[in-house]
Amino acid sequence: MSTTDVRPTGQPDEPEAPTNRPPSMHRVKMWIRRPYARWIMVLTVLIGFLLMPIAWLLLAAMNQTGAPASEVMKDIEQTVFVFTMVSIPITAFVFAVLVYSLLGWKHVSGDTPPEDESPAIRSNTIGVVLWTVVSSVLAFFLVVWGLAELAQITANSYGTIPADEQPEDKQALIVNVTGQQWVWTFEYPQYDGLTTETLYLAKDRPVYFNVTSKDVIHNFWAVELGVKIDANPGAITQTGVTPNKTGTFNVRCAELCGMHHAYMETAIQVLEPKAFNSWAREMGGGKTS
Ligand code: CUA
Repeated sequence: MSTTDVRPTGQPDEPEAPTNRPPSMHRVKMWIRRPYARWIMVLTVLIGFLLMPIAWLLLAAMNQTGAPASEVMKDIEQTVFVFTMVSIPITAFVFAVLVYSLLGWKHVSGDTPPEDESPAIRSNTIGVVLWTVVSSVLAFFLVVWGLAELAQITANSYGTIPADEQPEDKQALIVNVTGQQWVWTFEYPQYDGLTTETLYLAKDRPVYFNVTSKDVIHNFWAVELGVKIDANPGAITQTGVTPNKTGTFNVRCAELCGMHHAYMETAIQVLEPKAFNSWAREMGGGKTS
């Protein structure tokens, strides 16, 4: 079988005539027999296994400061994990081709193609169908997973519910969040308008955030609680969450807002409900509702 890739001179981009080509299955078999195809398959599996720990490393990095401190954050972490894992087969294959292309062709020099080439794999029906179906199935799974998780996260953070239609939960805490260059302030309208620069919350008590800005666009990011929403001047954006863990967590600004953007951060203290109430009393925030 002497099917080489030599094309008629003068028509460099003309594909070879289909009638001259052996059937798809035969070309796949020939392709698999090429030494470099085997190398690429071995490298794909190897790199795939090497990449897997990245999924756990990502979670370990996210959890260093105490996350997940809410159901919402748990859902987000699960999604990060699943998306990383599902991306690994494709990533591993692309890297395998890359690594082999960089290292495996050292013996080829000049313009002459290697002697031992078998028929080209490109426009091979089986190859095209396999590649398209596998990547489509993976992408479709991610879309479905992403939409389902998004719906769940939105529900758990009361994201789309207008303030006057939010569930009548007497327990719920309301916090008015204001961003300005470059500090956050938190006002508690249910506690005589008590205002702080550290965000105090109670464990297992739902909290609604009314978020706004005094100057430019900021972004209120309660890192370990999985809350992130724009703080726009002249508008109120609403979100919420239920912290399910006591501890000290972080608020950051997630929108470039000027020179000290990187330092626009503060702490979150999630206390036991009783401790939260005594804190509010001590701060002079008598409960008004
Ligand atoms: Cu405020 Cu960045």
